[in-house]
Amino acid sequence: MYRKKVLTLILSATLAMTALSACGSAREGSAPAEAPAANEAAADTSADAKTDNAQDTSEAAPAGAGFEAGATIGISLPWLGTQNWKEAETMFTEQLTEAGYNPIVQAADQKVPQQQQQIESMIENGAKAIVVGPIDGTQLGSVLEQAKAAGVYVIGYDRLIENTEAVDGVVQFGSVRTGVMQGQALLDGLKEKKGEGPYNVELFGGGPADPNAPNFFKGAMSVLQPEIDAGNIVIVSGQTDFTQCATEDWDNSKAQKRMDSLLAGNYSDKEIDGVLSPNDGIGRAIITSCEDAGQQIPVVTGLDAENESVEWVWQGKQYCTVAKPTQDLVAKTVEIINSLQAGNGMPATDVSTNNGKIDVPIYELDPVVVTKDNAKEVFANDPDRMALLK
Ligand code: BGC
Repeated sequence: MYRKKVLTLILSATLAMTALSACGSAREGSAPAEAPAANEAAADTSADAKTDNAQDTSEAAPAGAGFEAGATIGISLPWLGTQNWKEAETMFTEQLTEAGYNPIVQAADQKVPQQQQQIESMIENGAKAIVVGPIDGTQLGSVLEQAKAAGVYVIGYDRLIENTEAVDGVVQFGSVRTGVMQGQALLDGLKEKKGEGPYNVELFGGGPADPNAPNFFKGAMSVLQPEIDAGNIVIVSGQTDFTQCATEDWDNSKAQKRMDSLLAGNYSDKEIDGVLSPNDGIGRAIITSCEDAGQQIPVVTGLDAENESVEWVWQGKQYCTVAKPTQDLVAKTVEIINSLQAGNGMPATDVSTNNGKIDVPIYELDPVVVTKDNAKEVFANDPDRMALLK
């Protein structure tokens, strides 16, 4: 039996298409003609796109010929603007070196041409595998096709690589699932901290070129929209489309400016109860804006378990974050590289997502919501974050 849910694909066809029309991304082209209706897909918010057996992608992946133990491995990161990417830079360098490889680890400062050039030079330097966290999920097709033509394995890291056949698999936390968790945590936090509704809420999304961002938003809205429809949550500004809520380049200062103007324009005679934030940096910007405006601190979500936000969650200033440990993502990626090196090809996985061109095997890890109540449990094996809980 072959059954495939197409959430991510639908996302490309609906939210992302409109979101990206303003910023010149090529993601529009990824929508296949037979995409089901948006409302059909919207009803299925339980998880990211999955297959329930391994027959399609993983069994089809041929075992490779392997490569030398000390091979060059390229790591191309989108930027170092959030803690997760800085952690990835350090951990990949350390772990690949320890495993005997020659790592080239580079970050591209949110500039697509810079990322393309960095990947080209990794190919020229003889990389046998290139791991990519794309700035724009749709903009790397031609350089990755060059990589494939040179026999290089291409692994997506944290973000989907869209609209190309030149990708062997993606290691990530379920992005729709992450959004569902953020939406549910916001709702739980409102009930816990703000008593009975209706609640005054505003919504923020991440950078529209990042394929994760519309997925996070979609997942969260699957929880929040019914509450909005029921009148239990009021989006006072009326801004509920991803395009209106997105934060270009995940830039915290842009989010803070938007929050300043939302408060100035809509909340002079009201308290704000909650804000959906797609990550911790934006969450802290929102909280700072509320403080500056003399507002009470609303229930604010986050993502990444960044040090400063872990402290704020512990102090009760930020309601929650979602942990998606970089060490787990990097460890899984290095495990895949070791399999490729040994000539065993891509490991089997029973999850896949359509990227507009092919079903991409996904190596999916589980994120976890962190509030003050469970922080000590979640970080029990993370001494650095445990040290922040004091
Ligand atoms: C990552 C987040 C990160 C964001 C901005 C997303 O793709 O999943 O962890 O906060 O990019 O860097």
